[in-house]
Amino acid sequence: MAGKFHLSILLLLAALLLQLFDTAALTDSDDFAGLQALKSIWKNTPPNWEGSDPCGLGWEGISCANNRVISITLASINLSGQLSSDIVKISELQTLDLSYNTGMTGPLPQDIGDLKKLSSLILVGCGFSGPIPSSIGSLQQLVYLSLNSNGFIGGIPPTIGKLSHLYWLDLADNKLTGTIPVSDGTSPGLDMLLNTKHFHFGKNQLSGEIPSGLFNSNMTLIHLLLENNLLTGDIPSTLGLVKALEVVRLDINSLSGSVPENLNNLTSVQELFLANNKLTGVLPNLTGMDLLNYVDLSNNSFVATDVPPWFSSLQSLTSLIMEKTQLQGPLPPSMFSLPQLQTVAFKNNRINGTLSFGSNPSSQLYQIDLQDNLIDGFTQRAGLNIQIVLVGNPICDEGVTESYCKIPEPSPPTYTTPLENCNPQPCTEDRVSSPSCTCAYPYTGTLFFRAPSFSNYGNSSIFASLQQNMKASFKSHGLPIDAVSLSNPTKNIDNYLLLSLQVFPSGQDYFNRTGISAIGYMLSNQTFKPPKEYGPFYFIGNSYPYFAGLQASSKKSSSGIIIGAAAGGSVLVLLLLMAGVYAYRQRKRADTADKKNDPFAAWDSNANSGGVPQLKGAKSFSFEELKRITNNFSELNDVGSGGYGKVYRGTLPNGQLIAIKRAQQGSMQGGLEFKTEIELLSRVHHKNVVALVGFCFEQGEQMLVYEFIANGTLKDSLSGKSGIRLDWMRRLKIALGAAKGIQYLHDLANPPIIHRDIKSNNILLDERLNAKVADFGLSKPMNEPERGHVTTQVKGTMGYLDPEYYMTQQLTEKSDVYSFGVLLLELLTARSPIEKGKYIVREVKQAMDTGKEMYNLESILDPIVASSPSPRSVERFVDVALRCVHESGESRPHMSEVVKEIENIMEAAGYNPNAESASTSASYEGHSKGSNHPYSNQSLFAYSGNYPPSMLEPK
Ligand SMILES: *[C@@H]1O[C@H](CO)[C@@H](O)[C@H](O)[C@H]1NC(C)=O
Ligand SMILES: *[C@@H]1O[C@H](CO)[C@@H](O)[C@H](O)[C@H]1NC(C)=O
Ligand SMILES: *[C@@H]1O[C@H](CO)[C@@H](O)[C@H](O)[C@H]1NC(C)=O
Ligand SMILES: *[C@@H]1O[C@H](CO)[C@@H](O)[C@H](O)[C@H]1NC(C)=O
Repeated sequence: MAGKFHLSILLLLAALLLQLFDTAALTDSDDFAGLQALKSIWKNTPPNWEGSDPCGLGWEGISCANNRVISITLASINLSGQLSSDIVKISELQTLDLSYNTGMTGPLPQDIGDLKKLSSLILVGCGFSGPIPSSIGSLQQLVYLSLNSNGFIGGIPPTIGKLSHLYWLDLADNKLTGTIPVSDGTSPGLDMLLNTKHFHFGKNQLSGEIPSGLFNSNMTLIHLLLENNLLTGDIPSTLGLVKALEVVRLDINSLSGSVPENLNNLTSVQELFLANNKLTGVLPNLTGMDLLNYVDLSNNSFVATDVPPWFSSLQSLTSLIMEKTQLQGPLPPSMFSLPQLQTVAFKNNRINGTLSFGSNPSSQLYQIDLQDNLIDGFTQRAGLNIQIVLVGNPICDEGVTESYCKIPEPSPPTYTTPLENCNPQPCTEDRVSSPSCTCAYPYTGTLFFRAPSFSNYGNSSIFASLQQNMKASFKSHGLPIDAVSLSNPTKNIDNYLLLSLQVFPSGQDYFNRTGISAIGYMLSNQTFKPPKEYGPFYFIGNSYPYFAGLQASSKKSSSGIIIGAAAGGSVLVLLLLMAGVYAYRQRKRADTADKKNDPFAAWDSNANSGGVPQLKGAKSFSFEELKRITNNFSELNDVGSGGYGKVYRGTLPNGQLIAIKRAQQGSMQGGLEFKTEIELLSRVHHKNVVALVGFCFEQGEQMLVYEFIANGTLKDSLSGKSGIRLDWMRRLKIALGAAKGIQYLHDLANPPIIHRDIKSNNILLDERLNAKVADFGLSKPMNEPERGHVTTQVKGTMGYLDPEYYMTQQLTEKSDVYSFGVLLLELLTARSPIEKGKYIVREVKQAMDTGKEMYNLESILDPIVASSPSPRSVERFVDVALRCVHESGESRPHMSEVVKEIENIMEAAGYNPNAESASTSASYEGHSKGSNHPYSNQSLFAYSGNYPPSMLEPK
C-alpha cells in the first residue's frame, strides 16, 4: 500500500517535473497565445502549425530566439484573414512579412505600435485596407516599411516622420490621399527622415503641392518616386538640396510652373521623369548632370526651345524621351555619338532640317522616333540597323514608301532565359520544364522595375545578367533553388519594366512553405538587389498551390485521386478566381491611371462614346486654354458659323495658326462621331489631308482644333463666294491634290480609311491652293478582318452618295471614288451636284457626245473651263470623272489610277503636276475678306447640308 502510494506520488512528481521542464523549454506562452489566436482566424496556415511549441516544433514561417518568436514570414502561401491585434502579444517580433497573400484583408490594428522591436513590416501585394494607423510612428526600430500594392486609404500619417531608423518607405500603389506631411515644430513629418533612402509613393491619389519643407540638405534620400499622383503646384527648389538623389520620378501629376533652375545641382541623378505634367517656362537645363541615363520630359508646356547643348554633352544618356515639348530646330548629329545612347523619342515637336547620325553613331542605338516633326532630309548610314520613324515629317510626304515613313508594327521584344545546354522535357500535370530541363512546379510572379536606366528591351544580355545575379543571390542565401527563369520584358502604362519570374526548386519538384516564404521574403524585403541599371523594384508573387501535401494526396489511392482532383479542382477554381481578381485589379488600376491622364475620362462614362480614343499626336486642350487663345471666343476671332456652331481663329503659343470648331449646345455630334473624327485625324498625316492639332472635350463642349487653312472650301471658290478665280490649271491641281489625299487614306493610312463624305465642302484650299481633305466625322477605318467592305448604315451627303452603297449598305473605297467623280464634275461645271432638281451625273451623261469638240458639253461646263486652252485635257478629265461615277463599283478606277491619270492629263496639257504654285492668297484676284471659313460648312452633321431634308435618306 505504502509502495503503491509512493509510486503514485513519484509518478505525479515525475509528471509535474516533466511539465515544469517542458514549460521551461516551450515557446513563450504569450507568443504561443498570439500565434494560436491568429491561427484560429486565418485560413491556410501551414499544416504543421500544431502543438503548443511553435519554436520547439519548428512551425513553418516562424523563427525564434530564446523561445521568443522574432519573425513571421508567410509570403505567397495563400493565407487569408485579418491581422488582428493578437499580433501584439508576440512582443519580441522583429520581422513580419505577409506579402503576396491577397486574402489578407481589413485594416491594420491600431495597437500595432506596441510591437516595439519590429524592424521590418512588410505587407506587399495583400488586400489590406483602411487608414495606415498613426501608431506606426511608435515603431522606433523600424527599418523597412513596405505597405505597397494594397488598398490603404487616408493620408500618410505624419508620425512616420518619427521613424529615425527608417531606411525603406514604400507606400506606393494604394489609395492614399491628402498632402505629403512635413514637420511644423509641433507635429512630425517626412522631412525628418534623414536616414531614409527610399520614398516610394507612386500610384496613389496624393494631392496638393509638394511641400518645399519636405527636402533639406541633411537628407540622404536616393529614390524619390512620386509618379502618378494628383500633385499640383511648383516643383520646390529645395529638391536641389538633396544631393544624394539618384532616381527622381515626378511624372504623371499636375505639376506646374517652371522647373527650378538648381535642378542640375543634383549631379547623382540617373533617372529623371518629369513627363505628363503641366510644367511651363524654359526647358530644364540639365547641363552637368553627367550621370543621367534616362530622361523623360514629355508632354509638358515648356516654351518653344531650340535643341539645348546638353543633348550632346550628357555622356551616360541611354534614353532621351521628349515627346511634345515644343522642341524646335535641327538635331545636332553629335548627339547620336553619345556612347550609350539607345533611344531618342521626340515625337510631336518642331524639329526641322536634315536628320543625320554624324560620323560616329553610338553602337547602342536602337530606336529613333521623330514622328510628326518638320524634318525634310535624312542622311542614311549604311550598316546602322536601328528603327527610325519619320512618319508625319515633310520627308515622308506624298506617299514616300521608305520604311522610315511607315508606322512600325509593334513587335514587343521577347526574352526568355535560355536552356542550360539541355533538351526541354515533356512535363506532366502543371509541371514546367526548367532552364536546366527538369520538370517541376515553379514559384512565379512579376518583377516591376520602376525606373530602369535603359530602354532597349531587345538586348538579351542585360536580362541574362539579371538572371545570373538573381540565381547566385538565392543560392548564396541557402535557398533550395535549382534554376531561375526570366521572360517577357514589357513596359507598362506606368513606364515600369515588367519581367515574369519563375523560380525552380532543387532536389524535389515542388517547394515547401518555408522555401516559398523565404524566396518571397528575399524579394519583398529587398534582400535581393538587382544590378544598378535596374533601379528600384518591387515584386508581386503569385500564390503557390503545389505544396507537398497536395501532390502526395493526388498520387496515393483512387479515392486519394478523387480527393486530390477535387482539391486540385478547387485550387484551380481558386487560381482562376485569383487570376480574375488580379486581372480586375490590374484593369482597375490601369483604368484609374488612364483616368488621371486622360481627358476623356469624363467622356468615357458617357454610354455613347465607345471608350477612350486612341490618340496619336492630338493635343487635349483645356477649355480655359482655348478660351484664352480666342479671347474668350470673341466676335473678332469668329471666322465663320453654321448650324452646328461657330469657328474661331486663334494662334497657339508656338505661333501656329489654328481654327477651332466649336459645336453649339444642341448640335453636338454623337460622342462616337466626335471620337471617330479625332481618332482618325490624329492618325493621318499627309500634305493633302487637313491636320488635327487637338481637341477639347470639357465642360460640356466639343471642339476640334485644326491647322488653319487660309482659303476656305472648294465649294466657296467654285461658287464665286470666296472671290478666288479657279482657272483650268488650278482646277487640275486641286483635283490632283484631293485625289492624292484620298489615295493616302485608302492605301497608306493605317488602318486604311474610307472618308464617306467626299464633297466640295470638305476640300479645303490653303494659301497656295493646295487641296486638303477635311472632315472625318463619317469616316470608317477599314480594319483588317473586314478588309474589302464594311456593312454599315448608309451615311453621306445626297448628290455625292454612291448608289451602289445606298442600295447594298456595303461601303467600299469605291464609294469615295464615286463621290470624287461627282466632285470632278463639280470642278468642270461649277454646279452643285443637285441643282433645281437636276442631278449633275445624269445631266453630263445625257448631254455628252464624244464625237464633238469638248464632247458637246460647252453649255454645261463652267465658262472658265469651256475656254480652256487645252480642250483635249477637258475631255480626258470628263472621261475620268465618268469612270469614277460608273454604276458598278468594281468598274470604277482605284484612286491611285485616278491620281496617275490626272497627272498624265496635266503633263499632256503642259502643266507640271509637281510644281508648287509660288502664289500666295494675296495674289488671287478678288479675294474677299468676308469669305466663309472652311470649317463653317455644316458637313460635320451628315444630313444638315445644303439640301432639303426630304432628299436625305433616313438615318
Ligand atoms: C543639418 O545638420 C546639421 C548638423 O547636424 C544641423 O546643424 C543643421 O541645422 C541641419 N540642417 C537642417 C536643414 O536640418
Ligand atoms: C547648387 O550648386 C552650386 C554649386 O555647387 C551652389 O553654389 C549652389 O548654392 C547650389 N544651390 C543650391 C540651391 O543648392
Ligand atoms: C546651363 O547650365 C550650365 C551649367 O550650370 C551653364 O553653363 C549654361 O549657361 C546653362 N545654359 C542655359 C541655357 O542656361
Ligand atoms: C528650323 O527651325 C528654326 C527654329 O524654329 C528656324 O529658325 C530655322 O529657320 C528652321 N530651319 C529650316 C531649314 O527651316
